[in-house]
Amino acid sequence: EGDVYKYYCDGEWKKSSSTKSVAIINPTTRKTQYKVQACTQEEVNKVMEIAKSAQKSWAKTPLWKRAELLHKAAAILKEHKAPIAECLVKEIAKPAKDAVTEVVRSGDLVSYCAEEGVRILGEGKFLVSDSFPGNERTKYCLTSKIPLGVVLAIPPFNYPVNLAVSKIAPALIAGNSLVLKPPTQGAVSCLHMVHCFHLAGFPKGLISCVTGKGSEIGDFLTMHPGVNCISFTGGDTGIAISKKAGMIPLQMELGGKDACIVLEDADLDLVAANIIKGGFSYSGQRCTAVKVVLVIESVADELVEKVKARVAKLSVGPPEEDSDITPVVSESSANYIEGLVKDAKEKGATFCQEYKREGNLIWPLLLDNVRPDMRIAWEEPFGPVLPVIRISSVEEGIHHCNASNFGLQGCVFTKDINKAILIGDAMETGTVQINSAPARGPDHFPFQGIKDSGIGSQGITNSINMMTKVKTTVINLP
Ligand code: G3H
Repeated sequence: EGDVYKYYCDGEWKKSSSTKSVAIINPTTRKTQYKVQACTQEEVNKVMEIAKSAQKSWAKTPLWKRAELLHKAAAILKEHKAPIAECLVKEIAKPAKDAVTEVVRSGDLVSYCAEEGVRILGEGKFLVSDSFPGNERTKYCLTSKIPLGVVLAIPPFNYPVNLAVSKIAPALIAGNSLVLKPPTQGAVSCLHMVHCFHLAGFPKGLISCVTGKGSEIGDFLTMHPGVNCISFTGGDTGIAISKKAGMIPLQMELGGKDACIVLEDADLDLVAANIIKGGFSYSGQRCTAVKVVLVIESVADELVEKVKARVAKLSVGPPEEDSDITPVVSESSANYIEGLVKDAKEKGATFCQEYKREGNLIWPLLLDNVRPDMRIAWEEPFGPVLPVIRISSVEEGIHHCNASNFGLQGCVFTKDINKAILIGDAMETGTVQINSAPARGPDHFPFQGIKDSGIGSQGITNSINMMTKVKTTVINLP
C-alpha cells in the first residue's frame, strides 16, 4: 500500500482519523506516486482552534524575531531544494531545472518578505486634526498595522511551493497564523516545504497544513468561521469561493487569457523568443502564459515561420530529463486540451505541426488562422497549444483582448514606445508588459488581474498590506 504522508497540526505530523488517503498520480507514469491523509472536518476544526490561539501570542512576538525565523526558514528551504524539486518533478511533472528554480525563488521570496515586513510594518502614521475644516489641533491620531488573524492559503498545482510561500511569508511577518490547504498534485512538495518552516522553529500551531479531498474539506475550510482571510490561486473554484466566503478580505488569482499583440515594426526574433518562453514554458501551465497571439497580418507569415522554427527545437519528454515540454498535470486536463484542438480543427485552423499526444504528454502546437468562433480563441488550454489570430488593425487586437472575461496580463511588441503606452493603457488587464512575455515576477512587483482573473493585488508588499488591518489610536487633548 505504501506510506501515507502525514498532515501537520500543532507542530506535529499526524495521521488522520479517517484512515482514508488521497492518491497523487504522477502525470508522467500515470501511476500513484504518493498518498496523503484525507483529513476530516473535525480535524479542520481542531486546526482552526489551534491556529487562532497560536496567533494571539505570535502577534505579540517582536517583528524582528518574526523576520529572523522567516530568514531561517528561507535558508532551510534552499538547503532542501533537491528533495523538494524531486517531489515537484514526480507530482506535477515540472522540468527538473525549473523545479529547482521554483524552490530557490521561494527561499528568496521568504527572505525579501521578512525584510519588506520589518520596513513597512515598522512604521505607522501620525495625523493631526486641524487639517480638516472645523477642527482645532486637539486630536492626535496614530496608526499602525495589525494582523487579521488566521489566513487560509490555497495554492495551485503549478507552483505548489512558490505560490504557497507567497501567501505564508506575508501572513506570518504580519503577525497572522496560517492554515495551508495544498493542491492534491503538489501536496507532498507542500508538506516538505512546511517541514522547512517546522525545522526553522516557528511556534507550535502557527502553521498548519491539512490535506484531503476538496469535496470533504474544501467548502468547509473556505466557509469556516475561524478564517479571517483567504488567499487563493487557481481556476474557477476561486469564483465559487468568493461567492461563499464570509465578510473577510479575499486575495484571488484565477485564470488568464494573456494576449500578445504584435505590431508591424516589432523585432520579430524577440517576439518569437518571447512567444516560446511565454507560451510553452512548463507546457503552458501558467496563469501568465501567452495564450493568444494577435499579430498584424503584414508580419504574420514571417512571425509564424520564426515561431515554428523554434517550436521544432523544443524537447518533448519526461521532466526528469529536463525536457521543455512535459506531460500536463492530469488526464482530464489533457482531454480538455484535446477538445480545444479538435474544435479548432473542425472550424478550419491551420495546424503548424501535427497534433500528437501520448498519455498526458501533448506535443507543442501552434495554431494559425484561428478565428473568434473557435473555443481556443477564448478558453485557456493550460497546455502547450497556442492560437494565432491575424488582425488587420491594432484596434482589432485590443478589442479581442478586452472582449475576454479574463484580464490578467497582456503584452505588446513594438519599437514605438508611444504606441506601446497607448495600447497598454487600452488593454483591460492588471499588467501590460512592453516587449516581453507576461510574468508575475520579480516577486515584489504588484500582481493582479481584473474581471474573472482575480480580486486584489499581490506581490510581496501588497500581500503584506492586504493581510493587515489599520488600527488607529486617537489622543484627545484638553
Ligand atoms: O500560474 C500563475 C503564476 O502566478 C504565474 O507565475 O509568471 O512566475 O510563471 P509566473
